[in-house]
Amino acid sequence: MKKVNLAVVGATGMVGRTFLKVLEEKKLPIDNFYLFASERSAGKKMMFDGKEYTVEQLKEDSFDRGIDIALFSAGGDTSKKFAPIAAKKGCIVIDNSSAWRMDKEVPLVVPEVNPEDISWNKGIIANPNCSTIQAMVALKPLNDKYKIKRVVYSTYQAVSGAGLGGWNDLENGLKGEEPKKFPHPIANNCLPHIDVFEENGYTKEEIKMINETRKILHEPDMKITATAVRVPVFNSHSESINVEFEKDFDMEELIQTLKDAPGVIIQNNSVNNEYPLAVNATGHDEVFIGRIRRDESVKSGVNLWVVADNIRKGAASNAVQIADVIIKGKNN
Ligand code: A2P
Repeated sequence: MKKVNLAVVGATGMVGRTFLKVLEEKKLPIDNFYLFASERSAGKKMMFDGKEYTVEQLKEDSFDRGIDIALFSAGGDTSKKFAPIAAKKGCIVIDNSSAWRMDKEVPLVVPEVNPEDISWNKGIIANPNCSTIQAMVALKPLNDKYKIKRVVYSTYQAVSGAGLGGWNDLENGLKGEEPKKFPHPIANNCLPHIDVFEENGYTKEEIKMINETRKILHEPDMKITATAVRVPVFNSHSESINVEFEKDFDMEELIQTLKDAPGVIIQNNSVNNEYPLAVNATGHDEVFIGRIRRDESVKSGVNLWVVADNIRKGAASNAVQIADVIIKGKNN
């Protein structure tokens, strides 16, 4: 198997460190391996696959050395500036920020849902928003079978989605300290505010879920609304998803359709109090679906509770899966 030269940009961050963990687990065929972060981290040592690597400061000439694939998670500004520089040097960037997601020249990919979009990349592939990724794994098989008419997303998002700063706000907030990352205490609280507010009263996180869903499912006119809420959970996002279909459905068949879908685990047994939980999803790459029940207020609709590890499937694992598809393609 042909090996690739691979770089991680933002290696010291929460997603960056998980990139390393997932790359080790999935045993991608890596030849040379490079770690980049900001000036602050230059010289820092990090272990990968039993070897010590030195973190380098990301610079304009960082990609002048035959890097095949770069996994970026260093914020939108870094991606805006450095992803095109890397792509120009022949590197394929898989970018976890929101900088390129809605660019018409950039595919937005969940490998279980639209792997075919990887092929038309021009050097940058975007990893969707964490809340969108887990919803897509659940909704794609249902859209294929019953044609979705309308979606209502309500999210319960973990603090790890806001990086180390978010994590620290919950940890320190539980000890009575004031928040530094969030505008209000997150400990013992729910904040209906993720990312910045737009003129229409939605937050950017909510708009991302709406627009990214349409792009990934190739359904530009799908009716979608969203409310995104930060909750005092360290890791794994939970979502209530209400879906209305064009076609009628049989409940057993719908559950079987989800069971057969790639990357899905069904936990749907109310008799045993069995349903997806954030604490159980953490550390896994699958999307857990439960509380599946008919929405009796419409002709054809269903409610789902969808939980996944936002740092793994919602970010690092999804990007590594994309890299895996690219490497397998190079080897065919
Ligand atoms: P550093 O640790 O040197 O600041 P998180 O979202 O968990 O806070 O992580 C953000 C990641 O992005 C970190 O690895 C951080 O590196 C990196 N980063 C931030 N700004 C830059 C920059 N200008 N160039 C390269 N990496 C950056």
